[in-house]
Amino acid sequence: MYTIINNVLVPFQQAAVPINDLSVQRGYGVFDFFRTQNGVALFVDEHLNRLERSAAAMHLKIPYSRDELQEQVDQLMKQHRLPCSGIRITVTGGSSADNYTRGTPHVLIAEQSLLMQDPSQLHPGFRLITYPHVRELPEVKSINYMMGIWLQPKVKAAGAEDVLFVNNDHISELPRSNIFIVSKSGSLFTPSENILHGITRAKIITLAKAILSVELRPVTLTELKEAAEVFVTSTTKRLIPVLSVDANPIGNGRPGEVTRLLYQRFIEMEQKYFEKV
Ligand code: PDD
Repeated sequence: MYTIINNVLVPFQQAAVPINDLSVQRGYGVFDFFRTQNGVALFVDEHLNRLERSAAAMHLKIPYSRDELQEQVDQLMKQHRLPCSGIRITVTGGSSADNYTRGTPHVLIAEQSLLMQDPSQLHPGFRLITYPHVRELPEVKSINYMMGIWLQPKVKAAGAEDVLFVNNDHISELPRSNIFIVSKSGSLFTPSENILHGITRAKIITLAKAILSVELRPVTLTELKEAAEVFVTSTTKRLIPVLSVDANPIGNGRPGEVTRLLYQRFIEMEQKYFEKV
């Protein structure tokens, strides 16, 4: 496998950044992550837009134009020819003489094979626990996943699959996913604040607007616990039903109809994208 570092293709084993890079020393950097199928990168424009927004918000100047980044991604896909992969573009804080001041970012592009859920099968569902936390600069896709990684033993001990961050009785997101609830009256709500604006989230919002009323607004823990259906979204998860939160079953404890329908519509949207490009 190969990696592109600062526009140079190098074997993965030889790919390295200096140890005084702020990503290593201080966890400072941003990235974005998208899927590919047979050489087509899914929603790549949206992901590159978000990468540019994240970098700008962190005062990091990406040393390549949009076209140059796209060319580097194409080069890596052509090199590997993987049928299904994930590509991660990381923009680091750069080498720092005093281990604190930003330097010129290093740009790392890495690709690896991805094993995705069979699209004809909705995932059986996640059990969540909650934990009080708000990500720092939540609109930025930072490389810092400290809280999510630190909470892994707690999630496991609770017999759950993932954790939902809550703050002052409001829900926000999971360490790597966004969350949606379907109320008993049949509306779809998703938190509008303290979240990363997920690309999958945006696509689900568009698809859902054709089916039911959609509200982007603060969502309380009580609304979540009283919901008819809950699901989470991300690039790798697509859409996964939530069966329980802190051991309280959601709805009848099984994936709901709106969840199934939106999953179906999302799979259709994804397939159209892969066919069209
Ligand atoms: N996670 N919120 C956070 C904090 C995320 O890191 C992610 C993505 C999402 C969902 O965004 P999208 O639909 O654009 O993937 C929400 C990626 C997949 C990861 O780090 O593995």
